[in-house]
Formats: sequence, C-alpha cells, structure tokens
Amino acid sequence: MFITSNRVLLLERKHAMRILSIETSCDETAIAIADFTRAPTGARVNVSSHIVSSQTRIHAAFGGVVPNLARREHQQNLVPTLMSALTQAQMLAPQAPARHQAVSVILEREQYLLSLVKKHLLAIAPPPIDAIAATYGPGLAPALWVGVNFARALAELWQKPLIPVNHMAGHFFSALLQKDKKQEASFSIPSVPFPVLGLLVSGGHTELVLVKKPWHFSIIGTTLDDAVGEAYDKIGRLMGLSYPGGPALSHLAAQGDARKYHLPSPMLNTKDYHFSFSGLKTAAFYLIRGLPPATFEAERKADIAASFEKAALDVLVKKTLRAAKEYKAKTVLIGGGVSANRVLRKRLGDTLAHELPACRFLAPDPALAGDNALMIATAAYMTGMKKARNISDVRADANVVLG
Ligand code: KG4
Ligand code: ZN
Repeated sequence: MFITSNRVLLLERKHAMRILSIETSCDETAIAIADFTRAPTGARVNVSSHIVSSQTRIHAAFGGVVPNLARREHQQNLVPTLMSALTQAQMLAPQAPARHQAVSVILEREQYLLSLVKKHLLAIAPPPIDAIAATYGPGLAPALWVGVNFARALAELWQKPLIPVNHMAGHFFSALLQKDKKQEASFSIPSVPFPVLGLLVSGGHTELVLVKKPWHFSIIGTTLDDAVGEAYDKIGRLMGLSYPGGPALSHLAAQGDARKYHLPSPMLNTKDYHFSFSGLKTAAFYLIRGLPPATFEAERKADIAASFEKAALDVLVKKTLRAAKEYKAKTVLIGGGVSANRVLRKRLGDTLAHELPACRFLAPDPALAGDNALMIATAAYMTGMKKARNISDVRADANVVLG
C-alpha cells in the first residue's frame, strides 16, 4: 500500500482520530483501540479496547525474558488479542474472505502467525479505524519484528495508514494520560507548559529527556550500563523474589530500614546527567553474599531491599531535580515500568513541590506505567500523522534512540 502525501495531510487535519495500536517490544502482547479528539486545551481520549496479554509467567522460569520465547508467544497471542480487542470495541463484523497473497508475503517469516491470520482475520470486515500504530523499537528484535510485521499485514489487509512509534515516546506520553474521574475508560491530555523534562525508567532504559517544543526529544542523560529496572530485577532474583523483581523488591523495601546498610548511589555527584547502576548492583551482591543465609532470610532481606531502593532512587531524584533547574523545566514527568514505584513518585513529587513549586509534575496512572498499547496510540496521535509510512518502509529497530 502506498500512502500518498494527500492521505497523510488528510490524516493530519482530522480533529478526531481512531487508532488501533500494537505493542510487542518485550514480553507483553498489547493491543488498544482509542478515539482521540482535540479539545480547547489538549485532547480527549476514549478507549474502546485496552488489552495487555502478559508472558511474565512463561519467562519467570528463566529469571528473565527469553527473546525467542517472546517471539513465539507474540505469534500465538496477537490474533486472539486482536479478536478480543475488536469484540470489546464492538467492531467485529464478518465479510466475504479477503485475498491473502500480499499478507502471506509480509508474514513470510512468521508462518504460525500467518496461519492464525488466514484462519481468523480474512473473513473479518476492516474495522472503522483511521490508522494503525505499532512499536518499532527500541526493544527485543525478535519480539519487535512480530508486532511490526503483524501491523504491516493488517495495514495491507485493511488498507489503513501505518504509524511506527518509538516505545520510549509511548512511555513519555503515558504520563499525559489523565484518567477521567467520572467517566470510565476516558482520559484527558492536558496541554503542558514547555520545556518538559521526562525521566524514563524501565527494564531496558534510564533516560532524562528534554522537550523544548512539541515534540522534539533530546536525551540529556542515559545509563552507562544497566537500566534501573534491570538492577531491581537482578537484585530481586538474587534475593529469591518473584520475577520481575521490581515490584516485589519495592514491596519488601517498604517493610525495611534503609539506614541499616549503606549502598552506593553511583554518579550521584557527577556534573552530567548520566546514570550507572552496575556498581550498586555489585555492592548489593557482595552484601547479600557476605551474610550467613539464615541471617539474611530472617532479618536482613527487607533492610537490604530498602537500602538498595534508597540508593537507586536518590540518584534518580537528585539528577532529575538538577536537570529541571538547569533547563528551567515547567513540566517534569516520569514514565516506564519503574515509574509505577510509589516511593519514586512520592519523593520526586515532594522534592519538586518543595524546590520548584511552579513546576508541574505528571506521572502515569500506575496501570499504564508498564508496557501497554494505549501509550503507543497516544504517542502516534501526539507526534502527528506525519509519521505515517508506506508499509514496506516500516522496519523494527531494536536500538533506535528517541529523537
Ligand atoms: O516499561 P516496562 O514495563 O518494560 C520495559 O520497557 O522494560 O518496565 C519493566 C521494568 C522491570 O524492570 C520491572 O521490574 C520494573 O519495570 N518495575 C518496577 C516496579 N514495577 C515495575 N521497578 C521498581 N518498582 C516498581 N514498583
Ligand atoms: Zn517499556
């Protein structure tokens, strides 16, 4: 399918836009369908489907995400997830079976997914959507490709424009989705004052992103080694906590005393905005290994978790505050799986309220902090339809940088 510039222009001018989005960058297969409408200040979002099918249980046995298992699971889950999403949105209608030649070429490498597409999707009428959005990176290449090729196949089958979305842009915009208190499945997107500073913290990334005008991202700091979520997961695993370690470790930390142990906050006082978590991870490792197992189990676990969390969050909060001051941020937001962490939210929120009271602080609804497809649809809508591409030009890019 070829998207002419006219079609893109038409999309850009539309005030209302219904997007079907797909996220498969790691171990969640997620699909959402949402309507976006421009409002006097910002936008409104009505969600008609929002499904996250998690593979966590499958990867837990291995203590981390196994890329090829993730690829297999995405192939299995995408069609059922889409069928559920269309059913939820009341958009499932039959039609005479469509031809599958072009789709077969696109899904040449995903034969299992192709068999499910042929079995279930050819006899479904194209749903009333304006565009398809899909995460193209960063993430695990085998997982990304399944989602990208599925999105390309749907774009071909239904003759819809395809918008490739950066996963980290999705996490960034998730903070702008403010849940409507009165209306179920409705959100508003406020228009925020610039510059906006985003702290994006996930299992694969730790980034400080500066946005001076909509929506030009510039990364001013990143981790030099492990991501903060990765450090949580590794220490959680070492402590024998359930996978992924982040939520479990944080839960345990809430019962511990962070003053019992001193663990280092690497790069706390460096003048740049970069991070490093491998030294903290190693220090926690030796601390745990140095304790007799019985002592560790009985008394020290929660204290070590609390000390670890304090060391990790100290550096996130301090560097974010310093960057907010230096770049005169008017809005600070957080996003990514680790932004579900209550202590991080509270500490950063309180620190900003105290030190920069005029600065607005936004955090995602905890249910939208981890990987989901609604954030991908939101990023597609916010960053504009200019990004719509010919389907043959959309490729997965595991290492793409936000910018
Ligand atoms: O954004 P995300 O769902 O996936 C990636 O893009 O990586 O982030 C997952 C990461 C995992 O490392 C997980 O342990 C961490 O977010 N995480 C947390 C919490 N909830 C999830 N880390 C600390 N505290 C939490 N409450
Ligand atoms: Zn993520």
